[in-house]
Amino acid sequence: MMAFRRFKNAKIFVAVCFVVLFIMTYMTYTDNSKATSLYKFREQLWRFMSPRRQCGCDTCVAEPEASTWFDERFNLSVLPLLSKQNNVIPDTVYKWWLTLQGETKPKDIYEVMEELFEVIPGDLDLMDQGPYRCRTCAVVGNSGNLKSSNYGPEIDEHDFVLRMNHAPTARFEKDVGGKTTHHFVYPESVRDLQANVSMILIPFKTLDLQWLASALTHGTINRTYVQVPRKIRVSKDKVLVYSPELMKYVYDKWLLNHGRYPSTGLLAVIFALHVCDKVDLYGFGADSKGHWHHYWENNASAGAFRLTGVHDGDFEASILANLTSINKVLMFRGR
Ligand SMILES: *[C@@H]1O[C@H](CO)[C@@H](O)[C@H](O)[C@H]1NC(C)=O
Ligand SMILES: *[C@@H]1O[C@H](CO)[C@@H](O)[C@H](O)[C@H]1NC(C)=O
Ligand SMILES: *[C@@H]1O[C@H](CO)[C@@H](O)[C@H](O)[C@H]1NC(C)=O
Ligand SMILES: *[C@@H]1O[C@H](CO)[C@@H](O)[C@H](O)[C@H]1NC(C)=O
Ligand SMILES: *[C@@H]1O[C@H](CO)[C@@H](O)[C@H](O)[C@H]1NC(C)=O
Repeated sequence: MMAFRRFKNAKIFVAVCFVVLFIMTYMTYTDNSKATSLYKFREQLWRFMSPRRQCGCDTCVAEPEASTWFDERFNLSVLPLLSKQNNVIPDTVYKWWLTLQGETKPKDIYEVMEELFEVIPGDLDLMDQGPYRCRTCAVVGNSGNLKSSNYGPEIDEHDFVLRMNHAPTARFEKDVGGKTTHHFVYPESVRDLQANVSMILIPFKTLDLQWLASALTHGTINRTYVQVPRKIRVSKDKVLVYSPELMKYVYDKWLLNHGRYPSTGLLAVIFALHVCDKVDLYGFGADSKGHWHHYWENNASAGAFRLTGVHDGDFEASILANLTSINKVLMFRGR
């Protein structure tokens, strides 16, 4: 009888060991930081047990109550992409959006979207967050502070690597990485992308959506306010469209209407806050000498683009500084 009970206890003990081992393995697997120390493990176990976990990383962007400044602005209900499911643009958003580049005789937006979603799938939303997901993202800006940074390998370790506009990687891998999962563009800044990269079009007018459908098919549109490519080489089934509602939310809630509209960089950062669990920023801000050139340029006086008056660069910089100070993003400023 005694022997039997001991045997049974041993079986329970082994079962408990298995469960702990399973949880431990599972957490190491879901957490990209691969933290294995006992302290980290205890912390994670506690988080695993607590019911209101927002994600599977050590810290989660969407976790509330870290800062009232953040909580007053961040609204996860604003969906980041236009899609077949998220295809209603509220009237106030639409009216504001039309003024961005002064479009006067727009084609019916719903007709245009319908045509567009016959060309691209429009069925992705990236909003699959949950207690077991730990999606790490690197948002890579184009600042000259990336030069000689050797950030390349750590940038490439992120699940998502988001780049914008011209952003070349060939020849700059050591400092900016070689991996790109998503690339933000608008028609006037577009470039060809590798087949495994998702292009994210940021539309500033109805014509931009028409151009997108055209550039992926018959190629009849060759001009917006400047000449634009008739056709682009990107993977059609990976093309995504930035939601005008998210643009207005960035402008109202985060920018408090400073400047005429948000820069691509800020749009990319807030987008990342909505779709990622951990956000690291590279290539934002001036270099150590205060210059605002791009990392691929050898011209310290380039960067006059900052003073065009369309964007409020200083206010945008202070948003990023605030996000950094409350650890919602990590900012890598070059070295
Ligand atoms: C968050 O966004 C949703 C969708 O746009 C909106 O209905 C809601 O009022 C917003 N919440 C706050 C607190 O602004
Ligand atoms: C995308 O394709 C390129 C070239 O084929 C490859 O080097 C790279 O590793 C791929 N990137 C990803 C994220 O799969
Ligand atoms: C753009 O398209 C218009 C009308 O199809 C045509 O007249 C013009 O030559 C084109 N411009 C270029 C640069 O291809
Ligand atoms: C450097 O940038 C400035 C400002 O954009 C420009 O006027 C100048 O021509 C550039 N010089 C070179 C060598 O590219
Ligand atoms: C940054 O945070 C401070 C303190 O909460 C606040 O006063 C300031 O307005 C914030 N800046 C921006 C751009 O939101």
